[in-house]
Amino acid sequence: MKVRKAVIPVAGLGTRFLPASKAIPKEMLTIVDRPTIQYIVEEVVASGIEEVILITSEGKSAIENHFDYNFHLDTVLTEKKKYRLAEEMRHLSNLIDVVSVRQKKPLGLGHAIWTARNVVGKEPFVVLLGDDLVLSEQPCTKQMLDLFNEVQESVVAVQQVPMDETYLYGIVEGKHVKERVIKVDRMVEKPAPGTTKSDMAIIGRYILQPDIFDMLDKTTPGHGGEIQLTDALLALSNKRGMYAFEFDGTRFDAGDKLGYLKAIIAFALRHPDICENFSDHLKEVAAQL
Ligand code: G1P
Repeated sequence: MKVRKAVIPVAGLGTRFLPASKAIPKEMLTIVDRPTIQYIVEEVVASGIEEVILITSEGKSAIENHFDYNFHLDTVLTEKKKYRLAEEMRHLSNLIDVVSVRQKKPLGLGHAIWTARNVVGKEPFVVLLGDDLVLSEQPCTKQMLDLFNEVQESVVAVQQVPMDETYLYGIVEGKHVKERVIKVDRMVEKPAPGTTKSDMAIIGRYILQPDIFDMLDKTTPGHGGEIQLTDALLALSNKRGMYAFEFDGTRFDAGDKLGYLKAIIAFALRHPDICENFSDHLKEVAAQL
């Protein structure tokens, strides 16, 4: 079955970015010339997905506005003969259909995904977490869809992390069945140090069979007292197969101050308007260190 829908949870308060995220959603913080959420939606579009389902909360309307048509802006830009910019803004509003669903209580990532059950229906779907930006030749989601089309079972993106950082992630244990592909045996959300031998961390990209909603129905609060997606994934992997996929690309944790700055540098060095001057500037800065 073709994967047509992407769920993007954006309901979180963004406490790691206060005060920047006090009055604007953290997903609207800029990397070079676009908000982080735009990179995520562009990855979705480039992977052939047809609809985005945002899981929102109060104070997140700027995200919906960002992907909406702005008649006033269009009129003003056209009057000022800024035709290229006007066209760019229209293109942005036509990128993809966006619907949103409110997560009424902050009960965790698993609960956020469960909130989308009626809008997703009985078809496989993608989940992308806005904090994880992936720079790659082929979009990370597209790479995962290629594997999904082969195995027809849920796929989670993973990346090797240092052993002393495993407590920050959902960790996957299993056996390689081929290069870059692991058949999942066990999953644990943010394991206490020393409780797993695996260093395969879940990165915020998932392709899920709709059975995940039945699993989420039954998931009780786990790590941090929240309904964890990883716990429901484990239940799903026990019921039917699940694969972890080591994608090709560089992942940035844009939800963390240092990760966010690293992402800005990486994306700026690839931005056609500024890459050369920015690269020269970085060299000057490095020479002064
Ligand atoms: C979430 C997931 C975790 C995953 C991580 C990737 O955690 O619960 O399994 O490894 O995203 O970024 P969070 O970082 O939201 O606490």
